[in-house]
Amino acid sequence: MRNSKKNLNIGILGFGHMGEAIFRLLKKIPNLSFNICSLGIKKITGAVCVESIRELVEKSNPLFLCIKPQEFYSLNRNDFPEKTTDKIIISIMAGVCIKNIKKITGQEKIVRTMPNLPLQVGEGVIGWHANKKIFKRSELKEIETLLLFFGKKLFVKKENAIDSLTAISGSGPAYVFLFAEALIRSAVYFGFTKEQSQQIVLQTIKGSLAYIDSQEKNFNLEKLIAKIKSKKGTTEAALNEIGVKAFYDKWLKATSAAGKRANELSSYEIK
Ligand SMILES: NC(=O)c1ccc[n+]([C@@H]2O[C@H](COP(=O)([O-])OP(=O)(O)OC[C@H]3O[C@@H](n4cnc5c(N)ncnc54)[C@H](OP(=O)(O)O)[C@@H]3O)[C@@H](O)[C@H]2O)c1
Repeated sequence: MRNSKKNLNIGILGFGHMGEAIFRLLKKIPNLSFNICSLGIKKITGAVCVESIRELVEKSNPLFLCIKPQEFYSLNRNDFPEKTTDKIIISIMAGVCIKNIKKITGQEKIVRTMPNLPLQVGEGVIGWHANKKIFKRSELKEIETLLLFFGKKLFVKKENAIDSLTAISGSGPAYVFLFAEALIRSAVYFGFTKEQSQQIVLQTIKGSLAYIDSQEKNFNLEKLIAKIKSKKGTTEAALNEIGVKAFYDKWLKATSAAGKRANELSSYEIK
């Protein structure tokens, strides 16, 4: 689509953190126009702001659903126009299943995605699921091309794999921030200023990722750890204190709890 001559009218419902990021990222594609509907927003440079969801859906294809789940559940079938065969809805809402999106929007062609926070800088992980049988090949290609602008995309065959992804990459940035915060606190404890501590830790994380990127595709993190860890050395002292096996077990439990919660949320059914 980067070189596509086709004019897509992208719709965005909800212009908060994610809706705005999606607009900013997709604006880079030539030949796209944008319709946006968000509470209290009347003007956005480069987009047409429409007053109602009905008008937004009628004018746009595909339509990104970027409102919060609770905001979505406060809407009903009457807020949306009649079903149109080719209308594509791409939801980024966490924990809202396709069945419920169908019920409220009345549309058939639903794509459920699970992005994460780094989407806002074009470096997200975005898992997506759709019943491919009901889409034209060209439509699937268009969807994939759009998703590429958000970071790394991953198609999942089963809808409930979106819940597993929520537990790993959806919540993932918070896990990474937690680890960084723990290391920053240690640095402060050792006497570095808060600013120095943040710089040391963030550059260590950035540098470590760059190092991983420089490795073969099938890199092995345990081998990389072994490279740093020498017998009776400092890293070994730290890892012994952490207890690596217990650490892995703890993370398995933590992500399982997140997955279970994601599944509970997605299982909610509108009566
Ligand atoms: N943020 C993340 O990192 C992240 C990650 C993965 C998935 N998501 C999903 O992305 C979605 C959006 O999250 P967000 O963080 O961007 O939320 P947000 O900043 O609160 O954005 C939602 C926007 O939608 C507007 N809105 C609410 N009801 C509306 C309606 N009926 N019609 C038109 N506009 C309406 C809100 O306006 P007001 O502010 O005036 O109410 C707000 O501007 C959520 O479903 C979330 O699950 C977010």
